[in-house]
Amino acid sequence: MFTDRSGIDLRVQLGRLQLANPILVASGTFGYAREMERIVDLGRLGGIVPKTITMQSRPGNRPWRTVETAAGLLNSIGLDNDGLEFFVRHHLPYLSSLPTATLVSIAGRTHDEFVAMAHRLDRESGIAALELNISCPNVSGGIDFGTDAEMCCRLVSGVRQACRFPVAAKLTPNVTRIAEIAQAAAEGGADAISLINTVQGMAIDWRRKRPLLGNVLGGLSGPAIKPIALRCVYQVSRAVATPLIGIGGIACIDDVMEFFVAGATAVQIGTANYYDPTVSTRILDQLPAALVEAGARSVAELVGTLQTMAEEASSPLARVSAAT
Ligand SMILES: Cc1cc2nc3c(=O)[nH]c(=O)nc-3n(C[C@H](O)[C@H](O)[C@H](O)COP(=O)(O)O)c2cc1C
Repeated sequence: MFTDRSGIDLRVQLGRLQLANPILVASGTFGYAREMERIVDLGRLGGIVPKTITMQSRPGNRPWRTVETAAGLLNSIGLDNDGLEFFVRHHLPYLSSLPTATLVSIAGRTHDEFVAMAHRLDRESGIAALELNISCPNVSGGIDFGTDAEMCCRLVSGVRQACRFPVAAKLTPNVTRIAEIAQAAAEGGADAISLINTVQGMAIDWRRKRPLLGNVLGGLSGPAIKPIALRCVYQVSRAVATPLIGIGGIACIDDVMEFFVAGATAVQIGTANYYDPTVSTRILDQLPAALVEAGARSVAELVGTLQTMAEEASSPLARVSAAT
C-alpha cells in the first residue's frame, strides 16, 4: 500500500532505488534486524541498513566502546562484525525474506576490497542496494574515501561497475567541505548520498586523567548532531542533484520533516532505536498527516523546499513587492 486514505503517496525514488516509504533504520543501530522482529513490524520500514560488514571478520575496538554524553552517544565500536561470508550465510536469508528493502552496508580497507565485496554480493539476491560506509571514524583506512574527493569518485564508480545494485555513498561530516565530497560521489554515479555518519569526539574522566573510550576517540550521534546533519543535507542539496538520505539525531516526526525541507528524500533513524525501537514505525504512522499539514501529497513535493531570507529577497515576487 503506497497511499493512505488521505491519498498521500509515501513512495520515494533514490536514483535506481525505489522505496515504499522514506523511513529507514541506520547501520549499526538495528543489528541485523532479527533481534527486533518481536518489537517492530519490520515489513513496514522503508528499508533496513544492517551493521556494516567487512570482507574479513573484525573484533572491533577495545572497551569501553560506548559512552553517553549530553544529548548524544559516543561510540567506538570499530566495525565489529563476522565478515561478508558469514553475513551472506546467516543474516542475508532472513533480511531478504522481509517485505522491506535491505541496503547492505559495506566497508573495504582498499579500493579493490570495496569492489571485490560488491562483486561478491552481486551473486546474491534479496539486496535492494549497497551503502558504502566511507565514513566510519573508528577505523583506520577506509575513511580516506570519504575525505578525498578523487578517491571517493573512483570508488563509487568502481563499485557501480562491479554490481547491479543501486549505490549509496555514506559520507562523514568530519571534513572541511562536505559538498565537494558529495559532488565527487555524484560524479562517480551514486544513486543516493547518505548524510551523515557520526561526528568525531571524545569523553574524558578528568579525575583519572583517562579517556572514557578504549579507542580514545569515538563518533558522536543522537540529538546533539542533528543541527550538523541538517547543515550537511542543506549544503549538499544545493550542490548536487543526487537524492539524499538524511541521518543524524532523528527521533520524531518534526525531525523527519526538517530533513525533507532541508533537501533529504529519505531518512535513517539511528541512536533513537536504542531507547525506543518502535520510533520508526510511529513516525511512519504520523507521516501522512504531517505531509498534509505541509500541503504536500508526496515526500517529493516537500524535498528541498527550504527558503532562506536571502533567496526570498532575490525572488522576482519579492522584488516587485519591495518596489511597490
Ligand atoms: C553504536 C553505533 C554503531 C554504528 N555503526 C555503524 C556502522 O556499522 N556503519 C555505519 O555506516 N554507521 C554506523 N553508525 C552510525 C549511524 O548509522 C548513524 O549514521 C549515526 O549514528 C547518526 O545517526 P543517529 O544520530 O540517528 O544515530 C553507528 C552508530 C552508532 C551509535
